Amino acid sequence: MELDGKTAVITGGASGIGLATAKKFAASNVNLVLGDIEEAPLRKAVNDLRSDGAHVIGVAADVTLEDDVIALREAALKEFGGAHLVFNNAGVAAGATIGTPTKVWKWVLDVDLYGVIYGINAFVPLFLEQNEGHVVNTASLAGLGGAPGMGPYCAAKFAVVGLSESLFQELLLSGSKVGVSVLCPGFVRTRIHESSRNMPRELVSYLEDPTARLIADVASEAVNAGIDPADVAALVENAVTTNKFWILPHERSALRTTELRLDWMRGGAPMSFDLMGATKP
Ligand SMILES: NC(=O)c1ccc[n+]([C@@H]2O[C@H](COP(=O)([O-])OP(=O)(O)OC[C@H]3O[C@@H](n4cnc5c(N)ncnc54)[C@H](O)[C@@H]3O)[C@@H](O)[C@H]2O)c1
Repeated sequence: MELDGKTAVITGGASGIGLATAKKFAASNVNLVLGDIEEAPLRKAVNDLRSDGAHVIGVAADVTLEDDVIALREAALKEFGGAHLVFNNAGVAAGATIGTPTKVWKWVLDVDLYGVIYGINAFVPLFLEQNEGHVVNTASLAGLGGAPGMGPYCAAKFAVVGLSESLFQELLLSGSKVGVSVLCPGFVRTRIHESSRNMPRELVSYLEDPTARLIADVASEAVNAGIDPADVAALVENAVTTNKFWILPHERSALRTTELRLDWMRGGAPMSFDLMGATKP
């Protein structure tokens, strides 16, 4: 896809990978609609991007609410007269598989999985109608292999990989020019380990749980050892312009995880989990 003059919608665009993607695409003269649940960082992101010359608006949007995601599409059409790219990027992480309250599972799945589903329902019909558009769904290395301490996150991210592959096959069968990519990074230096800042108030008591605290400490160390979000954004732009499905910023870990799963499925030893290995590209 030629980027010049196109319009992109980025959920969770006020921080981390979403914000880095916004900066990258703004530099290619893409109009931007940033959606985020955090209004103050969203205002700051929009102001900073504007002072660098970007065409950008910010819309307060919670991706767990389908109407908010539809409103992002409508804002793009109203402000820029079109929508060509959607980054289903907003995400949160919390909880192990054992002992995590159901409400915490639901929160993670609502943001990380239903946020992506709402993005697909809001944008893909429009892209098909105009026979132009590209969807980037953010999964994770945690969508390619199970990791301890990450049950809800792995469940959501495996689902995002699965639905992205399914969308790829459906688009292929339809003969449409619409593209889809799935982004599966290892650790990236963002605020993902502080996801609880956006947790519904009634769930925050869970953070006092000793396992939750341990997970938060380990996650914070790994995230801070991760790669720069700008490096991820560069790979995302390349995937959109060359219509590449897999975006693997930590390619070595992604391939290794997949090979280990294959060995395990063939009767070999269970795959072992290398946390700090997932910080290196
Ligand atoms: N940082 C990593 O190590 C890493 C690795 C793999 C995948 N990811 C994925 O990358 C994506 C971006 O996360 P990040 O690392 O930049 O973290 P981040 O916390 O810096 O950014 C996430 C953004 O999503 C927003 N958000 C949270 N809940 C929302 C909601 N309900 N509605 C709308 N916006 C919401 C946050 O306010 C924030 O601006 C996520 O899907 C995450 O799972 C991150």
